Amino acid sequence: MTASGTADNRADELIGAYWQGAHLQDPMFLEQMRAINPVLLSATHGLAVLTGHAEITAVLRHPDVRTIKFGGGEEFSHTASYAVMNPMMLFHDGGSHTRLRSLAQRAFTPRVLEESREFIAALTDDLLTGAAAASRTAEGVDIVQAIAYPLPVTVIVRMLGLTGTDAERFRSWSESVADLLGGVNLPPERWAQIEADAQQMREYFRTLADDLRADPQPGLLSALAAAEAEGGGGRLSSAELLANAVLLLVAGHETTSNLIAGSVHALAQHPEQRAWLAADPAGRAANATEELLRFLSPVRGSGRLTTAPLTLGDVTLPAGMHLSLSYASDNRDPRMYAGPHTLDLSRANARTHLAFAGGPHYCLGATLARLESTTFLTRLLTRFPDYSVPEQTVAYRPNYALQGLERLRVTF
Ligand code: HEM
Repeated sequence: MTASGTADNRADELIGAYWQGAHLQDPMFLEQMRAINPVLLSATHGLAVLTGHAEITAVLRHPDVRTIKFGGGEEFSHTASYAVMNPMMLFHDGGSHTRLRSLAQRAFTPRVLEESREFIAALTDDLLTGAAAASRTAEGVDIVQAIAYPLPVTVIVRMLGLTGTDAERFRSWSESVADLLGGVNLPPERWAQIEADAQQMREYFRTLADDLRADPQPGLLSALAAAEAEGGGGRLSSAELLANAVLLLVAGHETTSNLIAGSVHALAQHPEQRAWLAADPAGRAANATEELLRFLSPVRGSGRLTTAPLTLGDVTLPAGMHLSLSYASDNRDPRMYAGPHTLDLSRANARTHLAFAGGPHYCLGATLARLESTTFLTRLLTRFPDYSVPEQTVAYRPNYALQGLERLRVTF
């Protein structure tokens, strides 16, 4: 066998294992892939896995790269799940993407965020007080249930103008969308539950959109329902409103929750870093948030498709090639970050991470997520700098896209 044949076999083998989720069990697996080539191509699998910072940055902005449409076979296109997911801005490009995103962005203004600042601070303090009281048991309190989940959910539910009483339903819907985005080996009964949730989401948001157009209420959803695209692009259709409201709801649930719980865990594992932050929480929480985003990568990765041949380094990818972008790996690229596996809250270039992606699909909620995390870290380290995380088995939810702790017991 030739040297290149051996390399091809190794690439096939690694990409096959990646596809089976090897990187979810072993974060160092991605290092092996990058060491061979940060653009690892397998013709057999029809896939290239990108693990380098420079390469992923280039791809995210490249005009010959587009998103992968949400879907699957013809059979799936008639499902409620498809109807809920397909019009999300995440799966659109060019003019269609700009139209969906600019409508949502207009409703998601800096003023709305500024107005949420005090609410977020007060809510964080209330949740911390409740969690500290609940943690006075031998087991401590599950930080995921007590703070990491309710904080971002309460904020996004309020911003959207939804009623808090639907929180349980929203959680179930959010988990279903998370599974649609990156669930691992879902059994048929789980698919049935997801489809039932999608059906409910459609009915709920269809009724809500009609109500809000007739009788606008405070919050993003009314603004979305009423928004007219500049240049006569028209209102969001009901399907578009539904899908993008669900996207905001889910993005507001899962990702920031995972950042918060992951941060509590990471800081407990790095006492010297925690002490550095606790010495000046208000002044240091912003850079700490960037480094924790880099270190944790709550969105592990995403997918794209080439529309024309594309050369990255020494690899030329053909048109129509699926690309799997690993944000978890590019955020640990040693060519970009010295000591990439070290948590260094004062890291000077922490903010260059790709945890929020880049290019046209750069996270729409990045400012909100940063505000929530910075507020949380400031209040946690000001009030409970000595919290502790008892010995326990830490498990992540099985998901290709979203990296989240199932639970984390903490005592204050
Ligand atoms: C720590 C928290 C968060 C992280 C790590 C995160 C990460 C990301 C990433 C990586 C993408 C791009 C996905 C891709 O490349 O295909 C994205 C897109 C998006 N995010 Fe976030 N996100 C966070 C919080 C939020 C919040 C709080 C919201 C809104 C409430 C939000 C709304 C969105 C939306 C609407 C998009 C789609 C943008 C587009 O397609 O143009 N995200 N996010």
